[in-house]
Amino acid sequence: MSVKQDMIANDACARKKPDMVRLTTGIPGLDEMIEGGFPFPSVILLAGSAGTGKTTFAMRYLCEGAKQGEQGLYFTTLSEPTQWMLRYATQFDFMDPAYFNDQIVYCDLGDKLREMNENELLNMMEEKIAEVMPQRIVIDPITVIGNFMKGDYRQFLFDLTNRLKNWNATTLMTGEVKPGEIYPPEVAYAADGIVLLILSEEMGARRKYLEVLKMRGTNHQTGKQSIDISRQDGIVVLKARF
Ligand SMILES: Nc1ncnc2c1ncn2[C@@H]1O[C@H](COP(=O)(O)OP(=O)(O)OP(=O)(O)O)[C@@H](O)[C@H]1O
Ligand SMILES: [Mg+2]
Repeated sequence: MSVKQDMIANDACARKKPDMVRLTTGIPGLDEMIEGGFPFPSVILLAGSAGTGKTTFAMRYLCEGAKQGEQGLYFTTLSEPTQWMLRYATQFDFMDPAYFNDQIVYCDLGDKLREMNENELLNMMEEKIAEVMPQRIVIDPITVIGNFMKGDYRQFLFDLTNRLKNWNATTLMTGEVKPGEIYPPEVAYAADGIVLLILSEEMGARRKYLEVLKMRGTNHQTGKQSIDISRQDGIVVLKARF
């Protein structure tokens, strides 16, 4: 090979983009929409109004990791004991309660939100992350923290997302949407990706949709996709029918 050919070959190699590491979501139909899964590490906001399936989505995401031998950490902000959460979660076929003995660690932040300031809360969450060393983290719902926060919520979210990415994990934060909003704006600002769960009324029927609004570094599908919630799979993205 001539020097010139060698230089061209080297240049082509240098321009070839390294593949981004991705975590499969476990949600049937979603990975195909986002080039194989959520970027790793990253922080993803899953936004939706009450009952749209945020917790169901988050559970499936953690169970998918556990199935693959990864560690998961589930922070709830709702002061819900593990048994309560498991009572609903075990209705789904994909959920194996044995995951919660070992691979998925449940941590209730509810009471601590009332007692701790922002820094204490961040440090406490980091201690838990250091103990579990998870690849997948869920904070469900993050928006409750904003309701309790006395200090600067945006600054807290900025610090939290930065720290989470340093831990080499992909974090799913669920966000409750207020009437008239598409997503909680403070959280959207700090997230690398936004997935919306939408409930809309059409000709008297309520329909559920999922939309990937943004996903950094990803050539993702756009537009609302119909979803279904079933006992077998939890949330399923339905293939468009023509
Ligand atoms: N087995 C099932 N089959 C069909 N739909 C189900 C099933 N289980 C739950 N659902 C639907 O999923 C909804 C609850 O989903 P989930 O708790 O994940 O929502 P959420 O967005 O987390 O709600 P919240 O904002 O109250 O926390 C139920 O209201 C119901 O419509
Ligand atoms: Mg929920």
